[in-house]
Amino acid sequence: MSNHGVNTNVGRDLCEIAHDLQGYLPYLKRLGYKGVPLSEASVEILEQGDKGSEAEALEMIRKDLGDCRRCGLHKGRKHIVFGVGNPKARLVLVGEGPGYEEDLHGAPFVGQAGQLLTKILKAIHLSREDVYIGNIIKCRPPRNRNPEPEEIAACLPFLQRQIRAIRPGLICALGTFAAQTLLQTHTPISRLRGHFHTYEDIPVLPTYHPAFLLRNPAKKRDAWEDMQELQRAYEQG
Ligand code: URA
Repeated sequence: MSNHGVNTNVGRDLCEIAHDLQGYLPYLKRLGYKGVPLSEASVEILEQGDKGSEAEALEMIRKDLGDCRRCGLHKGRKHIVFGVGNPKARLVLVGEGPGYEEDLHGAPFVGQAGQLLTKILKAIHLSREDVYIGNIIKCRPPRNRNPEPEEIAACLPFLQRQIRAIRPGLICALGTFAAQTLLQTHTPISRLRGHFHTYEDIPVLPTYHPAFLLRNPAKKRDAWEDMQELQRAYEQG
């Protein structure tokens, strides 16, 4: 039998299983079950299968992104800044986009703002290895200008897939751009910050961008309050 035949059979089997499940789940619901009863062995298999799957999903997304030329920003970039950190992070931090240093090194938040971000994380007992850090766009705009709508439209689906792969319990949106893009709003960051919002059912806490804090140290007090909120939510799981 050709490979094509094998795939067709596998496809048909999966369709039949899916069809059976569609009938079985409402039956369980009528019996009063709130979930699917699984044997210990099944749970073990599922847990083993799950190990590393977030990392694999992230790798797949990175592969799909490839040597991206979906918008004009590829012309001036040195490196794509995909995102870094723990694939199983319970907290994802989202910034705006790479600056000079990030473009040079291919990693997010490695310049001055990044150093402040690392300190902020440390103050709430987290390290960069605990969290995952990404940006709304993955290539540096010329002279660090704001990203254009078509650049965001081309890039955002990849961040959205990264967030779905990690499935964090919390997101911290750093600055106007990240907060307004994730929350699909024009509300200013000064009003968004300090309160939890939601993105795809995930609580999102917007706060000031570390680069803004470097320019406006008087706002560090507000940011510290936000971070304490974030810490409380993180520790409550
Ligand atoms: N500012 C951002 O928003 N992201 C980075 O990665 C660096 C600086």
